[in-house]
Amino acid sequence: MSELLIVFHSLTGGTRQMAEAAAAGAREEVGIAVRLLAAARAGPEDVLAARGYIFATPENLAAMAGMMKDFFDRSYYPVLDRVAGRPYGTLVCAGSDGENAVRQIARIATGWRLRPVADPVIVRTRAQTAEAIMAPKIIPPDGLAKCRELGLSIATGLAMGIF
Ligand SMILES: Cc1cc2nc3c(=O)[nH]c(=O)nc-3n(C[C@H](O)[C@H](O)[C@H](O)COP(=O)(O)O)c2cc1C
Repeated sequence: MSELLIVFHSLTGGTRQMAEAAAAGAREEVGIAVRLLAAARAGPEDVLAARGYIFATPENLAAMAGMMKDFFDRSYYPVLDRVAGRPYGTLVCAGSDGENAVRQIARIATGWRLRPVADPVIVRTRAQTAEAIMAPKIIPPDGLAKCRELGLSIATGLAMGIF
């Protein structure tokens, strides 16, 4: 059975909820195995074993989270030239922006020759103060619905063999 791998990192819970919503959407497609894996535990063998990917990260300091970058740093060269053409999607949880984290992931995915098959989903929490930024996050239903949709669409494409 083809596997969809969802790699995520989350400091205050927002990205985790987004990744879980994408996994729930993907699991609506019965023909696909869905694996949700924290970036700290994910490595090149996990990337090679899957047929499609969702990368989910907070935007921190105008970049993807360091733990997510560490996953890509450890995985990039062992996987290079071995995953070309596989589909991927991106989820970013941000305070007010998120675009640069999307760009960074797209650049790495281009290096891997992955195929973007869904528009990136950015959910903005609008946290502005230090206290609000460090507080636990609750992602609203419309944001979760977009993540769920992205998960389902990638899983369906994989199951139907159109990617
Ligand atoms: C150290 C730090 C830096 C941040 N920098 C940015 C930023 O550059 N742009 C932005 O939109 N949000 C920024 N944020 C806000 C987070 O993206 C936001 O709180 C988001 O909910 C984090 O996702 P998480 O709940 O999965 O950890 C920052 C948060 C932290 C803790």
